[in-house]
Amino acid sequence: VGVDAEHGKVVAAPAGWPDERFRAVLGSRLPIVQAPMAGAGGVELAVAAMAGGAVGSLPCALLKPEQVRAQAAEVRARAEGPLNLNFFCHQMPPAPDEGEWLALLRPFYDRFGLEPAAGEGPGRAPFDAAMAEAIEAVRPEIVSFHFGLPDGSLLDRVRAAGARVIATATTVREARSLARRRVDAIIAQGWEAGGHAGSFLSPPEEQLGLIALVPQVADATDLPVIAAGGIADGRGVAAALTLGAAAVQVGTAYLFCPESLVAPAHRAALASERAERTVFTNLFTGRRARGLATPPVDELGPVRPEAPAFPHAGAALAPLAAAARERGEEGFVPMWSGQAAPLARAEPAAGLTKRLAREALALLGAKA
Ligand SMILES: Cc1cc2nc3c(=O)[nH]c(=O)nc-3n(C[C@H](O)[C@H](O)[C@H](O)COP(=O)(O)O)c2cc1C
Repeated sequence: VGVDAEHGKVVAAPAGWPDERFRAVLGSRLPIVQAPMAGAGGVELAVAAMAGGAVGSLPCALLKPEQVRAQAAEVRARAEGPLNLNFFCHQMPPAPDEGEWLALLRPFYDRFGLEPAAGEGPGRAPFDAAMAEAIEAVRPEIVSFHFGLPDGSLLDRVRAAGARVIATATTVREARSLARRRVDAIIAQGWEAGGHAGSFLSPPEEQLGLIALVPQVADATDLPVIAAGGIADGRGVAAALTLGAAAVQVGTAYLFCPESLVAPAHRAALASERAERTVFTNLFTGRRARGLATPPVDELGPVRPEAPAFPHAGAALAPLAAAARERGEEGFVPMWSGQAAPLARAEPAAGLTKRLAREALALLGAKA
C-alpha cells in the first residue's frame, strides 16, 4: 500500500502490478477494463467503473452515431479517466431467407397464437464512416473492436483521432492477425466469456480457454494482453496477470451492479442457481454467444443451422419476445452470462472495481 498524493488516501501501491504497460495503453489507474456490453451497459455503468479506477466502456454496436456522441458527452461531463468506445466489425450478410427458421420456431408462435413472421430485430450495424466521424468528434482514448477490425482507411481515421486501438482474439491465429495490423493491445477472450465470442478467422468452437489463450497470445505477439472471460473476483484477476496478461476485461461481474441495464428477470436469474449453467448458443443472433439456458435453448438445442446469419436471427424472435413479455414469461431475449457469474455479487461498480484490484494485489503480493 501507499498514499494517493492527490486525495491523501491509503491506496494499493502501483508498483504491485506485474505488467506496467497497461498504463501506457489504457491510461487507467487500475489494470481493469469494464467490458463494453451492448444492451447491458451504458453511461451509468461506465461512469461508475471509471470512478473506481477502471477504463469505462460504452458499447456502441446498437447505437446511432448521434447517440454515441451524446452518451460520450455525458460520460465526459460526469467522469474523469480513459473512455473506450466499442464497435462490431462483422460483415453484414444479405437479408436471409427465413423460411426454415420460421418453420422451426412455429411451435412457439402457435403457443402465443401468432402467425410466424419476422419482426424488427435489434439493428447491430458494423463500424462505418459515420461512426468514424463520431470518433473524430468524441476523441475517445481507446477504441475497441469485436469480430475483427475495420478496413485500413477506417482504422487510420480512428488512429488519427488519437485513439489507441484494441481488439478481441479468441485464438492465437487471430491474435497474430491483429498484431500484424498493429493494434496497441489484444483482448484475449476465453471460452468462459459471456456474450458473443469475438471470433473472426477461427470458427467459434475453436475458441481457447483463457488459461491456455493468455500466455500463448503474450508469447506470440509481445503486445500487452487484456484477459477476458470468467474473471469475476480477485483470484481471477491475479491468475490472469500471472499468466502474462497486462490487464483484464470484466463483463459478467459488472452485470450484477445496480448501474447495469440488465432486465429484472435477467438480474434475478444471474443471482440464482441458474447461473451455474451457461450455454454457447446461436439462436438469438445467428452468432455464438454465451448465456444462461432458457426454455427455447433447451427445447431446440443451443446451436441450430436454421438460424440466419448474424445479426438476422433475432428478427424472428422479436414478436415472440414481445408476446412472452406480456404474459410475464421469458426465454426469447438472451440472458448473456459468462461461466463465472456465481462468483459475482451485487455491489456498486466503483466498489467492485476497487475490490477486484485490492483482492488481486493481495494475492499477487503474497505470491511475491
Ligand atoms: C451482456 C454482455 C454483453 C456483451 N456485449 C459486448 C459488446 O457489445 N462488445 C464487446 O466487445 N463485447 C461484449 N461482450 C463480451 C465482453 O466484452 C467480454 O469479452 C466478456 O464479458 C468477458 O467475460 P465475462 O463475462 O466472463 O467477464 C458482452 C458480454 C456480456 C456478458
